[in-house]
Amino acid sequence: MAIQSIWKIVLIDDEEDIREVMAIALLDAGYAVETAADGATGLRLCETIYPQIVITDIRMPGMDGLQVLETIKKKFPDIEVIVATAFGEMDLAIRALQLDASDFITKPISDEALYLALNRARDRYTSRKQIKDYTALLENERAVTIQELFKSITFQRNLIDSSMDGILGCDDKDTVVTYNQCMEQMLGFTKEEVLRKMTLSNFFSRGEYLNFNVAFSDERFGGKNKLMLYETTLKGKSGHKIPVQVSATALFDQDKANGLVCFFRDLREIRRLEREMEDQARILHQDKMMSLGRLAASVVHEINNPLAGVLNYFRLMLRILGEEQLDENQKKKFIQYLELAENETKRCSQIVSSLLNFSRLSPPAFQEVRIEELINRCVILSRHKLELSNIHLQSNIQTGIPPVKGDFNQLQQCIINLIFNAIDAMPQGGTLIIEGRHESEERLALIAVTDSGQGIASVDLPLIFEPFFTTKKEAYGVGLGLSTIYGIIERHKGTVEVKSRPGEGATFILKLPVTESQIAG
Ligand SMILES: Nc1ncnc2c1ncn2[C@@H]1O[C@H](COP(=O)(O)OP(=O)(O)OP(=O)(O)O)[C@@H](O)[C@H]1O
Ligand SMILES: [Mg+2]
Repeated sequence: MAIQSIWKIVLIDDEEDIREVMAIALLDAGYAVETAADGATGLRLCETIYPQIVITDIRMPGMDGLQVLETIKKKFPDIEVIVATAFGEMDLAIRALQLDASDFITKPISDEALYLALNRARDRYTSRKQIKDYTALLENERAVTIQELFKSITFQRNLIDSSMDGILGCDDKDTVVTYNQCMEQMLGFTKEEVLRKMTLSNFFSRGEYLNFNVAFSDERFGGKNKLMLYETTLKGKSGHKIPVQVSATALFDQDKANGLVCFFRDLREIRRLEREMEDQARILHQDKMMSLGRLAASVVHEINNPLAGVLNYFRLMLRILGEEQLDENQKKKFIQYLELAENETKRCSQIVSSLLNFSRLSPPAFQEVRIEELINRCVILSRHKLELSNIHLQSNIQTGIPPVKGDFNQLQQCIINLIFNAIDAMPQGGTLIIEGRHESEERLALIAVTDSGQGIASVDLPLIFEPFFTTKKEAYGVGLGLSTIYGIIERHKGTVEVKSRPGEGATFILKLPVTESQIAG
C-alpha cells in the first residue's frame, strides 16, 4: 500500500563520482533525489525537504555516517536511513543497525542491492507511519478502543502482516490481540495458538519479563510508557532463544492504559555477524603472534636447544682429551659426538637461512604475474621430486586468468612450499592436484593445492601457520614453510585458506587480487 506518491531521498557521500552515479540510478528508479557532500549539509537538507529515506556513506571527513544516523534518528525518527560501508567494515555496519539504520549496503554498490534496501526501507517507513497515524487517531478519538483498532481488516492484513518487523499487540490484561507473520516465523507459535490465548509474558523468561517491565518506565529507554531500542531475549516455541531489539508504546483510552504495541526486530543475523567479527579479531590476534618480538623468542628457543647440545658434546670431548690418550673405542665415540654436533649445527643454519627468507620485509618486486606461467614453473621445478615420491600430478589451469600484481619469485616459493608439504604428507605416494581459476565476481585469482595425504589433525589446524610449528621429524621440517607463505600472501593483499580432515588429505587455497587493467585472453 503506497502512501507516498514520490519518495524523496537525500544521498550523502563525500565522493562526487559516487553521488553522481547513484543519483542517476535513483532517478531512473523513480525517486526524487537531493545530494550532499557532507553530513552537515545532508542534515540541513533533511530539515528543508523532509525526505523519507536517507542514504549515507559511513566514512566521511567531518561528521561521519554514524553521527549522521544518530542525529537523524533523534531529530526525525520517521526517516529511514540506509548506510553504505566499505567491504569488510562489518563492525561499522553492525553499529549502524544497532542505531536503527534500516539496512546497510556494501560498496561498490550494485543497483540490485540498492533497490532491495530501498524497498525494505519503504516497507518499514510505510508500516511505521501508518501505525503512528492509527495511534494518533486512537489518542484523538478516545472512544476507539485498542480492540477496535486491531479489528480493522486492512490494517491487520496489509500492514501488520507485511511488516518486516515482528508486531505484537496486547490488551490491558496483557493478552495478545495482534500477532503478525514475522512473529510467527520468529517464535514458531501460530496465530491460532497465540491470539487471545497467550500473554506477552509467555514469550519471555521470568527474569527477562521483569527487566522488560522495569525498562518500560525507565527514562533511559525513551521515557515512561515508551520503550526505544531495548535489547532483550524472547523464548520461542521449541524453547529456543531469540535475541531481539524491541520498541514499544503503551496505548491509552480516556487516560486509562489499555494496551501495548511492541515492534520486535530479530537480532540473530546481527549476532551472527558479531560472532564472525570476533572470529576475525581472533585470527588477527593470531597474526600478531608473528610479530617480531614473538618471533625472536621462538628463534632463541629453537636455536638454543641444538646449540646447547653442541656445547655439551664439545665439553665432553674436551674432558676426555684432557684426561687420557684416545683408544679405538673412544675414537668411535668421538666420531659419534662430532656427527651429532654436525647435525645440530646444520639444523641451526637451516633455521637461520629459513628465517632470513621469512623475515625479508623488503617490499616485493611487484610486476604482472601470469598465474598459468607461475604454476607451470612450479610444476617443472617439483616434477622430479614428485616422480621420485610416486605422486601422480594433475594440473587444471583455466585459460585467461587475468594477471596478478606480485613478486614472481616469492609467489613461486609459496607454491613450491605447498607442493613440498603435500609431498611430505604422502610418504606412500598419492595424487596432487594443482588448480588455477579466475573468480571473476570477487576479482581474484585462486590457486589450490590438494593432496591425498594424511590430512591435518583438528587440534593442529589452528597452529600450522605459526612460525616453528611442525609435526615433522627433526631433520625434516623447521616449521617455517606456511608462516612464510602467510607473510608473502598478506603482502600481496591476498589470503591463504586451508581445508583438511585427518585421513582425507588437505587443500591449501591462495587467493590473490587480479589486476583490472589487462584481461589476458
Ligand atoms: N599438505 C599437508 N598435509 C598435512 N599436514 C600438513 C600439510 N601442510 C602442512 N601440514 C602441517 O603443517 C605443519 C607446518 O607446515 P610448515 O610448512 O609451516 O612447516 P614444515 O613443513 O613442518 O617445515 P618447513 O616447511 O619449514 O620445512 C607441518 O609440519 C604439518 O604438520
Ligand atoms: Mg613445509
